[in-house]
Order: sequence, then C-alpha cells, then structure tokens
Amino acid sequence: MNPDLKKLQPYPFEKLKALKADCSPNVEGHIALSIGEPKHDAPEFVLDSIRNNLQQINRYPLTKGRIELRNAIVSWLRARFKLSDSALDAEANVLPVAGTREALFSFAQCFVERKTDALILMPNPFYQIYEGAAFLSGAEPCFYNTIKENSYLPDFDCIDEDTWQRCQIIYICTPGNPTGSVISKRQLIKLIRLSQQYDFIIASDECYSEIYFDENSPPAGLLEAAEECGNTDFTNCIVFHSLSKRSNLPGMRSGFVAGDKQLIKSYLLYRTYHGCAMPPVHQLASIAAWNDETHVRQNRQLYIEKFAAVIDILKPVINVSLPDAGFYLWLNTPVDDEIFARDLYDQQNVTVLPGSYLSRISNGINPGENHVRLALVAPLDECITAANRIKQYILTLN
Ligand SMILES: Cc1ncc(COP(=O)(O)O)c(C=O)c1O
Repeated sequence: MNPDLKKLQPYPFEKLKALKADCSPNVEGHIALSIGEPKHDAPEFVLDSIRNNLQQINRYPLTKGRIELRNAIVSWLRARFKLSDSALDAEANVLPVAGTREALFSFAQCFVERKTDALILMPNPFYQIYEGAAFLSGAEPCFYNTIKENSYLPDFDCIDEDTWQRCQIIYICTPGNPTGSVISKRQLIKLIRLSQQYDFIIASDECYSEIYFDENSPPAGLLEAAEECGNTDFTNCIVFHSLSKRSNLPGMRSGFVAGDKQLIKSYLLYRTYHGCAMPPVHQLASIAAWNDETHVRQNRQLYIEKFAAVIDILKPVINVSLPDAGFYLWLNTPVDDEIFARDLYDQQNVTVLPGSYLSRISNGINPGENHVRLALVAPLDECITAANRIKQYILTLN
C-alpha cells in the first residue's frame, strides 16, 4: 500500500458525525448548515440541454473537451475578468475538468517534482483536498495562517525565504472557504512576483468567485492580476473554476482549469492517463451554463437575501458581518468550537462545522479554533429558523 495514504486525516464530516454521536436533540426538524453543497435549483435550460442530448452518451469524450466548450470558457473568462481579446487561446490555455475537486487533487500529482524537501503551501483553515493532494504527490503541506487580525487573508510577507525556495505549488482560495475573504488584485500581483522570483506554481481556487454581493465589484482573479502586471502568458498561473456553486450544478461535475499554456499542455498529457474526461452530455450542458449570466445574478440575489436575514438575527448576540464573498459565515465563537457545534446540535438541532476540523496547528496556533462555519445553502426560511435557533443557543452562553 502507498504509505502516504496513512497521512490522510478523516474528512471533517466524519469527525462531525463522531462529535454528534451522543446527542439527542428534542427540537423538531434538523437543519444542516455544515455542508457546502448548493441547494438552489439547477437552471432549467441546463436540464433541458441534458435531456436533449442524452443520445451523446454512446460516445467517448475527448479529455481536451469540445472546442465549443473551450470557446465558451474563454469567452466567459474574458468577459468576467476583463481580459484582452488575445489573452487566452481555447486550444492552449484551458482544459475542462470533472469538477475542481479532482483537478485540485490531481494537479499536484502532475506538477510536484518528488524531492525530499518539496513543499506545497496552502491556507489554514483550508479546503481539505489541498492537504491530501500534497501528501499523495509526495510533498509536504506547509500552512500559511489566515487569521482574524489579518481579515482572514494570507500575509505573504510572513513566509520566509527558505519556504519560498522549497515551495513548488501554492494553493490560494479566493473567495476563501471557509473565511469568505477575497484576496485583492494587489496581493495577487505580489504573489505573482514571488512566483517569478522563486519559480513556483500558483494554483488559484476561484470556485466561489461568482457568489458576491455587489454587482459592481466582483472578486478579482489571478488571470486578470497576471495580465495587469505584464505576465501576459500567465507563466506559473493556473485558475480553477466550477459550475457547482456558480450555477447550482454540483452533481454535473463540471469545471475547468486555465492559464499557463506549458502547464496546461503537461496537465493534458497527465489527464489523458488520469481519465476524468467530462461526459459529452455534460460538456454540452456546460456550454449553455457558461454562456448565461442571468441565472448567476439571480443566484447571487438569493444569497444576498439569506445573508441579510441571518446577520440581522445574529448581530445582537454575536459579532458577525457580511463576508467579502462566498456562501459561508465564519463565526468567531464565544466558546470552544467543538463544544459550540455539539451543544448547538443537542439543544437546537442545527448542525454547523467546527472550524478546527478545517485547520491544523501551524506557527503554534490553530486558526480554525473558536470558529464555526455556517453554509447558507438551505432555503431562506430554513436559514432564518436556523439563525433564530443559533441565537437562542448563544443566549444560553451568557
Ligand atoms: C474551496 C473549494 N474548492 C473546490 C471545491 C470543489 O468543487 P467542485 O469539485 O464541485 O467544483 C469546493 C467544494 O466545496 C470548495 O469548497
């Protein structure tokens, strides 16, 4: 057996299940705010596309995906991140992936040079796949903390020279899961400069980029930062995007990677063996989804309403504010996060995720401690009920 498998931690939801095992809530009706699975309706026109193209199931898909899909992705990227018309070539700069999860994981296998001191940097707290990707690619995960005092953003100035020298890949997550913080274009440019100086790859997980609250200021992305600072061929830069959150299509497993064409070329070779080509039916449905923004704006509106309602209810009892983007509230809890999550479930039948399940000890602290993650994915009325129950629970702590 691959000994690196032993390094994988139980997934946070297994830990959560164990935490809740002895509880027996009396309140009627369980509400789960623990899982980041979108619950709004999938767009009807995407479902129509799937229904109308089912006969395509009798074909093997190309790993590279249909050119129409890659064209749709390039058009979307150009419009969304205000890239120049010549910035991306659909033949060279993009690849469809079967959801960003498998891509974030397999990417490290493709690009880590197996040396004893190889590091993959990642935020802390973090999306758990990054750590597994590091272990299974033979690298060591190295965490950079994103803490309250720093608005839950990375501080690249804190990372020392030796770490940058050993860094082969850095994962960034913007908007962040679980923090909701958005890395500014200025910070992204700073990171691009560091990647040029020390020659490492930036893997920018942007799968929450379309869930934001001000139509006039969408979160910045790595590709626009690269173009702005003159890195017009996106050297060392790769972005990961997904239809899961943007279009409420998590079951379709549709996303893409885009950026540096040398990296994309190698990753295509890797993926030919990896074998996660997107089914033809899903490719056609994805084209429809990337070509439409109306449903994405409507989706954002639903989250805006939920955040407004939930924050309004919670504000009198706990320090809470609208995140930069995404669909999570990252609450700083007045008691230990495991106790908070367990007692909240026991007393109010609401499940939230303890922050420490999403983080590791690094630099002597565990930045997920005393935090819980609330995913506002349930319908508005359920989110309101959950917020009222959380309020009741918090009142018992005073
Ligand atoms: C930060 C982050 N990245 C990537 C993913 C994977 O999304 P998908 O594989 O559905 O594209 C998730 C899913 O929850 C996530 O939270």
